[in-house]
Amino acid sequence: MTQLLVTGGAGFIGSNFVHYVIEQTDHHVTVLDKLTYAGNLASLSELPHSRVDFVHGDVADAGIVEKLVASADAVVHYAAETHNDNSLNDPQPFLHTNVVGTFTLLEAVRKYGVRYHHISTDEVYGDLELDDSGRFTEASPYNPSSPYSSTKAGSDLLVRAWMRSYGLQATISNCSNNYGPYQHVEKFIPRQITNVLRGTRPRLYGEGLNVRDWIHADDHSSAVLEILEKGRIGETYLIGADGEKDNKTVVELILTIMGLDADAYENVPDRTGHDLRYAIDATKLRDELGWRPRYPDFEQGLAATIEWYRDHESWWAPAKDATEAFYARLGQ
Ligand code: NAD
Ligand code: TYD
Repeated sequence: MTQLLVTGGAGFIGSNFVHYVIEQTDHHVTVLDKLTYAGNLASLSELPHSRVDFVHGDVADAGIVEKLVASADAVVHYAAETHNDNSLNDPQPFLHTNVVGTFTLLEAVRKYGVRYHHISTDEVYGDLELDDSGRFTEASPYNPSSPYSSTKAGSDLLVRAWMRSYGLQATISNCSNNYGPYQHVEKFIPRQITNVLRGTRPRLYGEGLNVRDWIHADDHSSAVLEILEKGRIGETYLIGADGEKDNKTVVELILTIMGLDADAYENVPDRTGHDLRYAIDATKLRDELGWRPRYPDFEQGLAATIEWYRDHESWWAPAKDATEAFYARLGQ
């Protein structure tokens, strides 16, 4: 049996990965999570206690981290501050968790010689033009735009340096935008779904022409497990499922699926420095590891996600008012 340490396992994608590992393997998982506003223990509540331990703590706390890493066979590092709009408002926690937190973990992994997988984002590559047919590859240059993406880029570069300087047994993955159940209502898709459920209109930044490359969180998890088990040490893998859509199309789809007029949304002021387009070329992951997405149909996945939010108001309602109060202060 393998002992996995999963940081950020009470968040959206981390909790999805923990569920996936428990279903697909006989591994034991220890979750280390600070339970910030974005962490929610309810996302793990249905998992068997015999297979999953929870430790409440900060990934930048060397004492806790060393103790947990010492007894792990592998570490998968999801914990991060993740929301661009928050990072524009207050970058400090992004430096603390994404940079100092990753550094703290890397030092412990180096000391105990533990296999490490680093979770990152395609946003480290900056953005592409709307009329560009190109997509990001593992060879794309780093060019992050926001405090969020620059701290994620910084954390990736630390991992690369620790691999080269200290021979760390590590892999990195950079994934595109995830959607699915258990995503915090601050993010684009759940914000619009829960607005509609509350009887308020979805909010589209600017004209909504920005493009994101959507992947179901379950597909992200299957790719990460594949890389952890079969990926080549020292390599970076991009994860994406050919799901490019502009934001206006996504809002229109949500409204239509929820039985409202497709134009029943508000245009609100744009995000500063708003990245235009992200798009992933996942050829390396597909060709080397044979990975394929199981949920390639975005509309079907979106409809199922809408149903999940309809059925789980008790999960998201506690965060909704504070989130909307934050956006109201920004005029968004
Ligand atoms: P999330 O905001 O939903 O969850 C983050 C989790 O990390 C929360 O449970 C939070 O409590 C925990 N956390 C925050 N600071 C911590 C700290 N100092 N110590 C311990 N735990 C801490 O984020 P998410 O969307 O699940 O993203 C997880 C990871 O995946 C991040 O590294 C993110 O950069 C990456 N990623 C996200 C996406 C996306 O679309 N959401 C896409 C690609 C990559
Ligand atoms: P978001 O979910 O914040 O992810 P990211 O910034 O990491 O891509 O936003 C996705 C897209 O949706 C992004 O182009 C910004 C846009 N957006 C809106 O149009 N309205 C909203 O209310 C939010 C939160 C985001």
